[in-house]
Amino acid sequence: MKTTQWIAILDFGSQYSQLIARRVREQRVYSEIVPFDISAADLMKRAPSGIILSGGPASVFDPEAPLCHQDIFNLGIPILGICYGMQMIVRTLGGIVEPACSREFGDTQITITDTNSLFKDMPDRLQVWMSHGDHVDRMPDGFHVLAKTTACPVAAIADNERNIYGLQFHPEVAHTPRGTDIIRRFVFDVCACDGDWEMSRFIKDAMAKIKLQAGKEHVVCGLSGGVDSAVTAVLLQQAIGDQLHCIFVDNGLLRSGEIEAVEKTLVNSFGIDLIVVDARKLFLDQLKGVVDPEEKRKRIGKTFIDVFAAESLKLGNIKYLAQGTLYTDVIESVSPIGGPSVTIKSHHNVGGLPADLQFELLEPVRELFKDEVRVLGRELGIPNSIIDRQPFPGPGLAVRILGEVTDERLELLRQADIRVQEEIAALDNAADIWQSFAVLLPIQTVGVMGDSRTYENVAALRVVGSRDGMTADWVRLPYDTLARISNRIINEVAGINRVVYDISSKPPATIEWE
Ligand code: XMP
Repeated sequence: MKTTQWIAILDFGSQYSQLIARRVREQRVYSEIVPFDISAADLMKRAPSGIILSGGPASVFDPEAPLCHQDIFNLGIPILGICYGMQMIVRTLGGIVEPACSREFGDTQITITDTNSLFKDMPDRLQVWMSHGDHVDRMPDGFHVLAKTTACPVAAIADNERNIYGLQFHPEVAHTPRGTDIIRRFVFDVCACDGDWEMSRFIKDAMAKIKLQAGKEHVVCGLSGGVDSAVTAVLLQQAIGDQLHCIFVDNGLLRSGEIEAVEKTLVNSFGIDLIVVDARKLFLDQLKGVVDPEEKRKRIGKTFIDVFAAESLKLGNIKYLAQGTLYTDVIESVSPIGGPSVTIKSHHNVGGLPADLQFELLEPVRELFKDEVRVLGRELGIPNSIIDRQPFPGPGLAVRILGEVTDERLELLRQADIRVQEEIAALDNAADIWQSFAVLLPIQTVGVMGDSRTYENVAALRVVGSRDGMTADWVRLPYDTLARISNRIINEVAGINRVVYDISSKPPATIEWE
């Protein structure tokens, strides 16, 4: 079997490292972010076709500046350094970097002086995105200039003999309109990649890896109803068949019809061995009297682990735990820059199982981005009803019921939520909406129905657009849609007499209310 060609991206902490990986993958060339201090030997074992050194927040003058191993420059593999990556190349190979007297940030024009390699077939002048303080004063031996700006005489460099290149600007961002072409030049012309990486190939490779790792052993996988765990389960099922056992913990905090939808697809269509554990009472008991959001999250997380652990132990001879970990989760642990230090919400999901479960981990989609998991899922034949699902928090409806969670309030919220889903699904742009849901508030208001006074609950409507859940804005829904949702909830759901629309963006608000 032909081995997969790939580009290694050494991550020096740039906020754009993921974007570089994406830009390369968009060319149908596989790419992966690896730690900046990976050894040359470890890199060689996986034989990348090219290496990209990312940018980063450090300056090469910082005593703590992250540096890659020097031997990497002797491997004979083409290298492209971006911003900090270029300055590190220059310093490491004997050139001189100077702190710039005038810093360049934002849109800049470069003048191309050599159109033979990275800038082949491009105009003399290009708009690019600069973000740097230091600049190259003297290039190492063997290098020449490819482009300059008025403030920076060395904006791009090359050593064609050794196939080492440097760009002072960021080709991976949208503000560099020809950036993708520059990346293509590197990946195809310099690294000689074929551009034949595709999902069917990924599936074949992933199945082979799963079979090799699992052997004849049995694997347990937690299902949440979400797309990541569903795709993981189906991939495993196709690789190891009845060695796979899935557990769905019914915590009683799910949306209406959730379990039935998963059963219908995964059991009926894919023949997955699924155990649904009815733990509704246990979760509700644990949540009795609890109103603090963090306390709710912690109790739900712990109860989930207890139930899942007990159930998986019942299965007996299980060696592996399969998780739908995604590439975005993996990258955070690779980056030299630490994650956020303040806990806004303690997240809980089926991926958050503790190490002392004594299982070895299988994470077959850990190299994929969310949208790639969706492509994979479609290729595996999973229906859109599961693939296009909106994200749903692990603690479920409990964090959408402000105040105590009770059976009655859960049912009230479910009924309101069904109406929200139906009306949103009817919109032409439903696919552009990141999340849409109802929230049950802990207050009652006065209303009038017929000739009677009512004193009932308030539901809030939350509909947001987002790229990744990190930031979000409320969707400007048509008034007619808002009116229909409000009328239907108030008229059809006994116990709610008022609906309000949440017009807060994230930040400073969050998407979920708790
Ligand atoms: P917030 O409310 O922090 O949510 O703006 C950002 C995104 O994360 C989802 N979310 C969770 N997902 N476990 C999850 O798997 C959780 O505990 C959790 N809490 C929030 C939320 O729905 C939104 O998409």
